[in-house]
Amino acid sequence: MSEENCKYKRILVTSALPYANGPIHIGHLAGVYVPSDIYVRYQRLKHRDVLHICGSDEHGVAITMKARKEGVTPQDIIDKYHELNKKAFEDFGISFDIYSRTSSQVHTETSQEIFKTLYNKGVFVEKTSKQYYDEEAKQFLADRYITGTCPHCGNPNAYGDQCEKCGTSLDPTDLIDPKSAISGSQLVLKETKHWYMPLEKYQEFLEKWILQDHKNWKVNVYGQCKSWLDQGLQPRAVSRDLDWGIPVPVEGADGKVLYVWFDAPIGYISFTKQLTPEWEKYWKSDECKLVHFIGKDNIVFHCIVFPSILKAEGSYILPDNVPANEFLNLESDKISTSRNWAVWLHEYNEDFPNKQDVLRYVLTANAPETKDNDFSWKDFQQRNNSELVAVLGNFVNRTLLLTDKYFDGYVPQPGELSSADKEALEEIVKIKQEVEKSIENYRFREALNNAMGLGRLGNKYITEQEPWKVIKTDKERVKTILYVNLQITAAISTVLEPFIPFSMKKLREFLNLDNLIDWDTISSAEILKPQHKLNKSSLLFEPITDEIVQAQIDKLNRTKVENQKKEFQPKAQKTLISFDDFQKCDIRTATILEAEKVAKTNKLLKLTVDTGIDKRTLVSGIAEHYDPKDIVGRKILMIVNLEPRKIKGIESKGMILCAEGSDGSLHFLNPDSELENGCQIG
Ligand code: MF3
Ligand code: ZN
Repeated sequence: MSEENCKYKRILVTSALPYANGPIHIGHLAGVYVPSDIYVRYQRLKHRDVLHICGSDEHGVAITMKARKEGVTPQDIIDKYHELNKKAFEDFGISFDIYSRTSSQVHTETSQEIFKTLYNKGVFVEKTSKQYYDEEAKQFLADRYITGTCPHCGNPNAYGDQCEKCGTSLDPTDLIDPKSAISGSQLVLKETKHWYMPLEKYQEFLEKWILQDHKNWKVNVYGQCKSWLDQGLQPRAVSRDLDWGIPVPVEGADGKVLYVWFDAPIGYISFTKQLTPEWEKYWKSDECKLVHFIGKDNIVFHCIVFPSILKAEGSYILPDNVPANEFLNLESDKISTSRNWAVWLHEYNEDFPNKQDVLRYVLTANAPETKDNDFSWKDFQQRNNSELVAVLGNFVNRTLLLTDKYFDGYVPQPGELSSADKEALEEIVKIKQEVEKSIENYRFREALNNAMGLGRLGNKYITEQEPWKVIKTDKERVKTILYVNLQITAAISTVLEPFIPFSMKKLREFLNLDNLIDWDTISSAEILKPQHKLNKSSLLFEPITDEIVQAQIDKLNRTKVENQKKEFQPKAQKTLISFDDFQKCDIRTATILEAEKVAKTNKLLKLTVDTGIDKRTLVSGIAEHYDPKDIVGRKILMIVNLEPRKIKGIESKGMILCAEGSDGSLHFLNPDSELENGCQIG
């Protein structure tokens, strides 16, 4: 790592520009912004020249779709979500140097300039093709605006780019009976001209640059690139027929805008321009290391398309690394904006004020670095209570309280160091070096685990040394013990700063440190000098109770039920039966007289019912839906002439009619007025 960095004098870190069409959730944070923030905060502690660039991605169909859905303009949408997301990032301490927007003037100019440069160099290929056109709305339709029947599963509401029911990627021309989602009208195929980036011409370059020269990239990133390259690259359109976006800056391009994936990554450049007049020192210098933090769905654009564009342009550097993460699931289900299956940052902030660090911590400890991973509220609680509170908070708290109690809050002068003291002090430096190595290699889970080693070290040391006992006999020795504890505590305030910055700021206040300690100060033993006066402290972390996490779980369960209701699709009709067949069924009103669980089963109830004809026994699979004591006396409908069957040794004569709800729940059917038992239904 150190050799690597010798090459570089500056580091330019970019985080994927989120679409300004919805709020930010924990999946975004875990996948991109927490890791990039850890990386950047660490580099700042190393006093490296680092910039962190981000902002809103405000073009493309994602924005116009949302505007149409809400009945407002695209401008309304981007204004709303730009502000909301900017604030959410600030609230979580994601320390961008700039958070700009792709609707800014500088961005428009920069994107158009790069397009023109490539155009003038003759890089693009112009092609005319047939695309679906909505004659009523008088516009070409983006894939998302076309709906029709999925050729694979028959879903009548598939989109032109994907069927959300069976997950297949589609081309609009695959759809059976395609229609406009805007006007509902039939579509016609009409010719339209676009500019294409001929990626196949960069295949050879990319193969060398990625497959040979960047074998150090993360396995998931390298693997995805290899698979794209193995399939053979194809030309990609860099323009679109859309009325929202950056106009294509050449003659004869009326009504055409830059494809959002052409302009968005250029945002990294235009935002750096907005940040500093020295932007070229970053973008156009081999002394600068460029790192793109993204989620896995962005890999092809950042590793293949954008580098080809920059390469074709010729004056920009290419990324040194693209540490993309996999996806985070929530309670074992895919996070989904449309299904509201997410933990939204602005909601988390309301429910957990001043606990941003807890979320940062949990998302890092459980980051989807090498595979998809799961966030659960139980795990969130467990990690807070048994790691942040019980290990880190507990150690720091004991150290500060004892120093206050025995030495009036002054860092004591140590006596001669025992071998245990020396070992503990050496261990601080070792841990710091491990953390460093893990961060430089983009392994943030490992880095956090290493950093928490300081808390574990401190707890072990203080428990073994027992200053609260030693004080009774040897106050001098306690000076040394607390001195060592305080050095560990001071190291914690720096080494954990990239991960949990709010708590470490608080800790620095307790320690009466105005400024951050330099990362490299941690190589010498003495971080806090004797006679340094500490401030009063309070708890760094608080336990999270069962009730609090249960409230979050309940909230998700309500969402689940709502979704099941919305997504409910009645089963297809059964095959026709004759009137005679139906007449054979003898359906009657009846009353439940007795009910009890069938032993050793979960689902079955044994019922005695009065059918009007007789009193009889039947076994019914409703135990998970009805409590026996609640249903005695209930009027029901049942088939009385079903052949008797033995179920768990009980002879069951007949069957109760129940309707099955969207969530699989079973419901009795009641006659709408008081009826005798034995009335026939037909
Ligand atoms: N808005 C895109 C997304 O959310 C990411 C754009 S990254 C950029 O998937 F590089 F294009 F800006
Ligand atoms: Zn399908």
